[in-house]
Amino acid sequence: MTVQERTQVGIVGAGPAGLLLAHLLALGGIDSVCVEARSREYCEARQRAGMLESTTVELLRAVGLGGRLDAEGLEHDGIYVQFDGERHHLNFRELTGGRWITIYAQTEIVKDLIAARTAAGAALEFEVSDTTVTGLDSDRPVLSYTDRGGERHVVTCDVIAGCDGFHGITRRSIPAGGLTMLAERCYPYAWLGILAAAPPSTDEVIYCRHDRGFALHSMRTPEIGRLYLQVPADEDAGRWSDDRIWAELATRFAVPGWSLTRGPVLQKSVTPMRSFVAAPMRYGRLFLAGDAAHIVPPTGAKGLNLAVADVAALATALIRLTRDGDRELADAYSDYCLERVWRSTHLSWWMTSMLHITPGQDQFESELQLAQLRHLVSSRTAAAMLAETYTGYAPLRFDPTTRLEAARLWPSVA
Ligand code: FAD
Ligand code: DHB
Repeated sequence: MTVQERTQVGIVGAGPAGLLLAHLLALGGIDSVCVEARSREYCEARQRAGMLESTTVELLRAVGLGGRLDAEGLEHDGIYVQFDGERHHLNFRELTGGRWITIYAQTEIVKDLIAARTAAGAALEFEVSDTTVTGLDSDRPVLSYTDRGGERHVVTCDVIAGCDGFHGITRRSIPAGGLTMLAERCYPYAWLGILAAAPPSTDEVIYCRHDRGFALHSMRTPEIGRLYLQVPADEDAGRWSDDRIWAELATRFAVPGWSLTRGPVLQKSVTPMRSFVAAPMRYGRLFLAGDAAHIVPPTGAKGLNLAVADVAALATALIRLTRDGDRELADAYSDYCLERVWRSTHLSWWMTSMLHITPGQDQFESELQLAQLRHLVSSRTAAAMLAETYTGYAPLRFDPTTRLEAARLWPSVA
């Protein structure tokens, strides 16, 4: 049997982008249906990002999602950068005149959003299959899917939001020629990430360049560490025993007088590293947001923050479009987001290139990396450039009420 339905915004994907979009639209009085291929449990447990820009934190607070974030998030002033066996602190709060960063896992943001949507009685369907989007260049695009019980739903929408990540179906539903830019860079290495029942051995995150490869020491709570190692592209996580992981981490992070606390590895996985930008982030009545439109390598922690920034702009634009019939913000959405996307793409490419060892890397490349790192830790100007981009850009404005034009609502992030 097929059920015919109607909503204002059909949302594909219940990752951070899709869930936050549904939440913001509801604040502006707009209905949505959000469909997700995976189970709720899977979405809530999927280990990914953890570092939030202060601008992301401020937005989440402003829209009623600050409760657990403020109680459990770990606020940091800056980061450590390590190379040549020495660790240096960069104080972003001081360098930026007050901006900071917060460790609060993507899993927790997703749990908070699902709880808020569920409490509001929202249309949020997990474990759907055969999702399709059609009629994208008409005024009534259609989202179709089969629910967990096998029933087919055909939902007529005003707009569809593609929030279904890099491997989703929405970007690929755009006809040939509908995307004018597909820029991509694959990196010849990957990250092995672990979650460990080991108290963090550092008060703030450490980014470490070592001749054996990059390492990152982050954390989730005062009891749980989150650590990463550069490994070959396509590495099999099964080749890394707990002992091997801890020994490699201890070697790369070694500095005199410091030791790494070990503990049981709770989860491990390998993440490929890629930069990708598709543009424009819109085709007719389909709007792309988050990883569906762009991917960055994780160094610099921009992926989740970009998804939040896209959605703050998109929600405001879609509220104006569907409630007021005002197209100005919807028309400005892609150009506005792409400015930030490219700035974050540059930051993550730059941090990745400066800190990782490329297979076959020669001394010339190594010396260039070390020269940049020495400059970063010795020049206030160089450190301030990183601090400014790392902690966020212009504030994220979600504003369903005032009628500011695009240029004033979303000032340039350049
Ligand atoms: P996603 O989180 O990918 O959500 C998309 C959702 O759409 C998924 O739940 C998916 O199941 C669903 N979906 C896909 N296809 C369909 C369909 N056909 N029908 C219905 N639903 C569908 N960023 C960092 O800053 N730091 C990190 O350490 C980090 N680690 C990462 C590790 C991995 C393995 C990955 C993949 C990403 C990582 N990122 C990291 C990036 C960050 O997690 C993403 O930028 C963020 O998840 C983007 O959110 P999103 O909602 O756009 O996409
Ligand atoms: C984390 C991930 C990152 O990619 C990063 O640059 C910093 C922190 C994290 O998972 O905590």
